[in-house]
Amino acid sequence: MDRAQQIFDRLDELGRISEDAHCLTRQYGSDAMRRANNLVGSWMKQAGMDVRVDAIGNLIGTSAVPSTGGSSRKTLLLGSHLDTVKNAGKYDGPLGVVLAIAAVEQCKDKSLPFDISVIGFADEEGVRFQSTYLGSRAVAGSFDEKDLQRTDANGVTLANAIKHFGGDPNKLSECRFDRTKLLGYFEVHIEQGPVLEQKNQAVGPVTAIAGQTRAKIKFEGKAGHAGTTPMSMRRDALCGAAGFIQMVESCARYNAGLVATIGQIVCEPNVSNVIPAIAHLTLDVRHRDDKIRLRACDELQAAAKKVAALRNLAMSWQVVQETTSVPCSTEFSIRLHQAILKHQSDVTDLPSGAGHDAAVMSKICPIAMLFVRCKDGLSHHPDESITVEDVRVALAVLTDFIHSFGIRK
Ligand code: GLV
Ligand code: MN
Ligand code: MN
Repeated sequence: MDRAQQIFDRLDELGRISEDAHCLTRQYGSDAMRRANNLVGSWMKQAGMDVRVDAIGNLIGTSAVPSTGGSSRKTLLLGSHLDTVKNAGKYDGPLGVVLAIAAVEQCKDKSLPFDISVIGFADEEGVRFQSTYLGSRAVAGSFDEKDLQRTDANGVTLANAIKHFGGDPNKLSECRFDRTKLLGYFEVHIEQGPVLEQKNQAVGPVTAIAGQTRAKIKFEGKAGHAGTTPMSMRRDALCGAAGFIQMVESCARYNAGLVATIGQIVCEPNVSNVIPAIAHLTLDVRHRDDKIRLRACDELQAAAKKVAALRNLAMSWQVVQETTSVPCSTEFSIRLHQAILKHQSDVTDLPSGAGHDAAVMSKICPIAMLFVRCKDGLSHHPDESITVEDVRVALAVLTDFIHSFGIRK
């Protein structure tokens, strides 16, 4: 059996499960997520795992890998997320889950002093509720109950979305993993950047995951007639937002390592012959150094105030999410380096600008991540592309990483 080819084919099949007929979109709590859980759950069962879906919708496969060590044995948790952005590629998230299942099959006949579980987190991207890591936060015990009142674009609360999905918003504490029983968490993910391709390397270890701030910003002016209101008398919220967006871009360009994005604008009333009264924006700011990120956010908030004052607009700024920069475990990274060197001659350490469930899992156990080369460094795009040869290397590295714990006494 060519497991790498099987992983590749499975990712194709999973990539066809979408809530949108024309592209891949799988948001938290959607029917597409349910179908994805069913399909991936069937692969977990084929690998001999017991499968369950927890109260928030995470898919969990518990393996019956022959193990030694009796009741004190710990669990190595492998996985990533099964939700996607809108019009997504098929590898961001699913690669780490499908590859982990193959690793469990690969290790089936080995006697390990720990158990392996595989998790497909239900929400990492945060597209539907503007709040990332819902799945891993429930598992790490850092889920904030206030988030249950968040609403999606149709006014559905997260609490109701959980119920609709078959979960229970009152039982999220039951999703929590016992940290004393976890050996660690390991995630394989596409790189989402160009470095491995430039270095001609299949895989690379992640050093740290950048911290990020997400904020919702609202500029509010006054609607009016587009044909009769003189330019000097307008309070156009969208023009204010436009000025601010350019400041966001400049701020990131002039601060090395900083990235900042306004990914969404919703304008009201959004009608061609009415002056925009309200502009809602989302802001995403990231840097590996938390101090630089926080300073940039302060500067941007001051800039938004200034823009609003100049145009006689009201401005509100709401931070909806903040995660700090997270280093990967040194011990795990040493093991990972050694595993990689068995399969390629050089190792390039990679910081991650993208957020990953591993960042949340680091609150309860050691974490490590392996990046896999992707074509043109492209991600969050339907043209995401990887090769079956690189998947083969990633599977071999993951298997060797797992076995590296087996020889520890
Ligand atoms: C997740 O992909 C993120 O980094 O936004
Ligand atoms: Mn993503
Ligand atoms: Mn991802």
